[in-house]
Amino acid sequence: MKKKLVVLSGAGVSAESGISTFRDSDGLWENYNVMEVASIEGWYQNPELVIDFYNQRRIQLANVEPNEAHKIIAQLEEYYDVTVVTQNVDNLHERAGSTQIIHLHGELTKVCSDNQKKHVKDIGYETFQFGDLAEDGELLRPFIVWFGEDVPLIHRAAEIVAEAEIIIIIGTSLNVYPAAGLLYSARQDAQIYVIDPKEVQPIAKIVHFIKEKATVGMRKLWQGLIK
Ligand code: APR
Repeated sequence: MKKKLVVLSGAGVSAESGISTFRDSDGLWENYNVMEVASIEGWYQNPELVIDFYNQRRIQLANVEPNEAHKIIAQLEEYYDVTVVTQNVDNLHERAGSTQIIHLHGELTKVCSDNQKKHVKDIGYETFQFGDLAEDGELLRPFIVWFGEDVPLIHRAAEIVAEAEIIIIIGTSLNVYPAAGLLYSARQDAQIYVIDPKEVQPIAKIVHFIKEKATVGMRKLWQGLIK
């Protein structure tokens, strides 16, 4: 039986693919007001602006590729029972070959109906407009978990973290809950690695820091994990 390994990823894992993070100096939240484009209140106030923001993100996603960090994470499946729990809404883990992925904050390539997020539909890299309707006649909206909304997959993610012998936290500032609290579910004896060029503060557990960018950090960790 393969050991269970969980990767908790955030925007930093996709940074070297050319997708901006949120809270770094050139991050998205410096150029946009997070509450205007990524909150449920923002959606009610100005849905056109919100749809335009995610249309742009989707167009950008069509033009980037998974990087070596995504690929090494996918290759770990040869040796471990890997689940990726990501806060990212991009599809770069899938495109790199990972097969078990939980998108805590939704998926850019999907839309759903405004009515309790029913009728989830794949639109790939296409754009849509305010006024487009879902099957049930409700407005179409991005299939994204905004600030102010529930994170329905958090319970499943916590169960998976609780079973993991190895946890890799990569490219997340651990600012956003409930995702940042997932480590509360970790086993006492889980081996926890943090890959990030900056200092991040995971909640009180013993961790091994690899202070590197995602690609370099995953390359180093691969050497350690695949002995
Ligand atoms: N490799 C690895 N990590 C990197 C790299 C890189 N090349 N570049 C930056 N980072 C790190 C930063 O140092 C930071 O710790 O990635 C982290 C990115 O943090 P955030 O921008 O806060 O992104 P994230 O933690 O994913 O944000 C969580 O916030 O706005 C919401 O819903 C959005 O899912 C997102 C959530």
